Amino acid sequence: MKNTKPTLFSAIKATGKMHLGNYLGAIKNWVELQNSGKYKTIYSIVDLHTLTIKINPKELRENIIEMAADIIACGIDPQKSIFFIQSHVKEHAELAWILNCITPVAELERMTQYKDKAKRHKENVNAGLLDYPVLMAADILLYKAKVVPVGNDQSQHLEFTRKIVRKFNQRWGKYFEEPQTVLTSIPRLKSLTDPTKKMSKDLGPKSYIAIADSPDKIREKIKFAVTDIGGPGSKISGGENLLNLFEQFSDDKKLISKFKNDYKNKKLRYAELKPALAEAIINYLKPIQEKRQRLLNNKKYLEEVLMHGEQQAKIIAEKNLNEIKEIIGIL
Ligand code: AMP
Ligand code: TRP
Repeated sequence: MKNTKPTLFSAIKATGKMHLGNYLGAIKNWVELQNSGKYKTIYSIVDLHTLTIKINPKELRENIIEMAADIIACGIDPQKSIFFIQSHVKEHAELAWILNCITPVAELERMTQYKDKAKRHKENVNAGLLDYPVLMAADILLYKAKVVPVGNDQSQHLEFTRKIVRKFNQRWGKYFEEPQTVLTSIPRLKSLTDPTKKMSKDLGPKSYIAIADSPDKIREKIKFAVTDIGGPGSKISGGENLLNLFEQFSDDKKLISKFKNDYKNKKLRYAELKPALAEAIINYLKPIQEKRQRLLNNKKYLEEVLMHGEQQAKIIAEKNLNEIKEIIGIL
C-alpha cells in the first residue's frame, strides 16, 4: 500500500546545548507526534542556519554531535523518523536559492527575529541572517511537509513560509500546500534570569537549564531563578514559569495542585517550590542523560544513524527538487 501519511518536518539549530525551552516547546512534541504514527516524520539539525552566528568549527562540530545525541536520547527513533544533518542534503541550499528569487526583500526585513538579532549583533548583520527564513521555508517545502511543530518564536517564519507557497503557486501553478504550525502547551518557556524574555542560549548559561546539566547545576540555577517581578500574579511572572515547569516535570499531582492553589492565593513559598522543582527536573532528565552519555560513548553509531537519515532524506529531496526544477523551467 502507498504511504499516504502527511509529512511532518521540524528542525533545531546547533548554536549550543538543547535546553528545556527547546524540549517543552518542540522536541517533546516531536517525539509524541512521531509515536502517534499519524505522520511521516522528518527531523533535522540545521547546521547551515547555525552559520548565521559566529561559531568556531570545533565548537560547531561538537554541538552537532551532542545535539544528535540529545535528540535521540529524548526519544527520536531513527527507525521511525528520518533524522539527518541539513547540510548533508545539498538540495536545501538549492531550493533556498530558487525561493530567494520570489521573496521580496521587504518581507525579510519585517521579520521580528531578524530585527532583534540585527540589533543585538550589530557587528555581524550578514546576508544569511536576513535570508534565514527562506532557507527555513526551503527545509519545509523540500519535503512538501504539511505539519511543522515548533515553539511560538517560529510562528512568524511559518507564516512567511505560507506566503512563499502562495507566491510560488501563483507564479508556476499549484504545487505546494501551505504547512500548518503546531504549538505545544508551553510554546514559550521563559528565561530563568529574565522572565520578560524566552529561555534561550543567548542569555547566558544561568538563564536556561540544558538537558545535559548536572544535578548540582540544576539545583543552583533553580535556586537563583527570578520569581515574580512586581509581586505574585504580576504580568511578567517568573513564578508562573517555575510552576509550569513543576507541572511538566513532576508526577506528584497532589503537590502540583497544592502549589497552584498557593500561587493563586498568593501564599506560594518559593523555598518549598524551588527544591521540589529541581528534584523533579533531575529525576525526569536522569534516564535521558544516561542514554545521552551512552550515545556519546558510541559516536560511530551516531554517525551511522545520521548517514542513514541522509540517504533517506536525499531520496525525497532529489525527487521533489527535480519536479520543482522542471516546473520552473530549469530541467
Ligand atoms: P532553536 O534552538 O532556536 O533552533 O529552536 C528549536 C526549537 O525550540 C524551535 O521549535 C523553537 O521554537 C523552540 N524553542 C526555542 N526556545 C524556546 C522557548 N524558550 N520556549 C519554547 N520553545 C522554544
Ligand atoms: N528556525 C528554527 C529555530 O530557530 C529552526 C528551523 C530551521 C526550523 N528550519 C526549520 C524549524 C524548519 C522548523 C522547520 O528554531
